[in-house]
Amino acid sequence: MGTVNKGADIENIIEVKDLHYRYKDDTHALKGISLSVPKGSRTALVGPNGAGKSTLLLHLNAINLPQQGSIKVAGIEVSPATEKEIRNKVGLVFQDPDDQVFAMTAWDDVAFGPLNMGLGRDEVKSRVEDALKLVGMWEFKDKAPHHLSFGQKKRVAIAGVVAMDPEVIILDEPTAYLDPGGQDVLMEILAGFHKRGKTILLATHDMDLAAEWADRIIVIKSGRTLAEGGKELLVNKDIVSQANLRLPIVAQIFSRLPEFTRDTLPYTVDEAVKAIRKISQKG
Ligand SMILES: Nc1ncnc2c1ncn2[C@@H]1O[C@H](COP(=O)(O)OP(=O)(O)O)[C@@H](O)[C@H]1O
Ligand SMILES: [Mg+2]
Repeated sequence: MGTVNKGADIENIIEVKDLHYRYKDDTHALKGISLSVPKGSRTALVGPNGAGKSTLLLHLNAINLPQQGSIKVAGIEVSPATEKEIRNKVGLVFQDPDDQVFAMTAWDDVAFGPLNMGLGRDEVKSRVEDALKLVGMWEFKDKAPHHLSFGQKKRVAIAGVVAMDPEVIILDEPTAYLDPGGQDVLMEILAGFHKRGKTILLATHDMDLAAEWADRIIVIKSGRTLAEGGKELLVNKDIVSQANLRLPIVAQIFSRLPEFTRDTLPYTVDEAVKAIRKISQKG
C-alpha cells in the first residue's frame, strides 16, 4: 500500500509468470516459463537454439501476446490494451534485421520509432543523427536498407532502438554478424545505457560474451527456465551441460588446472590475467 517494503529492494523491471506460447503449427515454444529481470541489470538470457529465447523476447515488446500466464514490464501488464505503452518502454533489436529494417532509407528507418512516439521534428532529427553516428552508420543515412550488408542493417536496427531511448533495451543475439569493430561499438553503446540506469537484456548462446558482459544470468531450455542467478551459473557444469552450452573459454582453460575450484575459477579475460599474475608470483 505504497509503504516501503524492505524485502523488495531489488525491483524487477520484467516479471514473467508461467507463460505459455504455441505457434500456429502447434509448436509449444514456451511451456510455463517464469523469470525476472532486475531493474538496471545487464542480464544475459542464455540457452541453446530452439530454447524459446526469441519467442520470449517478442513477448516483452508486446509483439507476441501471452496465450496463458502473465508478463509485467515496469509494473504494466502486457496486453493488447498496453501495447503502445510497452513499446515506448521496451526497445527490441530483433535477431534478424530483415524483420526490422524496412523503410526507404536508413535515416527514415531510424526516424520511424521517434516519429511514432510523437516527438517534434527537431528532436527526431537530432536523435536520428546521434543514433546513426553512434553505430557508425551516418555516412549510409541515405542508403536503402536492402543495399546494406547484414551487419550494417543490424547496426541500423540498433540505432532505431537507441533513438527511442527506451527504459529497457532488449537484444536478440546482437553480436552475430557484427564484425569485431561492430561488436566493440555495441558493447560501448550498452555500457553507456547501463551507466544511465537502463536495463539491458541480451539473448545469446555466446558464453564468453555472457561472462564478460552480464551481471545476471537466466538459463532457459525447451521453453522453460533452468536457472536464474549470478555469473556463477556460467561455470555450473550441470546446468551448462543440461542446456547444451559450454563453459566460457577462460573457465575451460582454468578448470584444467588443479589450483582452481569452482569458486575461484576465473571466467573473464581480466580475471584470468589476475589469476596468472598471482600464480607467477607464487612460483
Ligand atoms: N514462426 C514460428 N512458427 C512455428 N514455430 C516456430 C516459429 N518460430 C519459432 N518456432 C519454434 O519455436 C521454438 C522456439 O524457437 P525460438 O524462440 O526461435 O528459439 P531460440 O531463439 O532460443 O533459438 C523452436 O522449436 C522453433 O522451431
Ligand atoms: Mg532466437
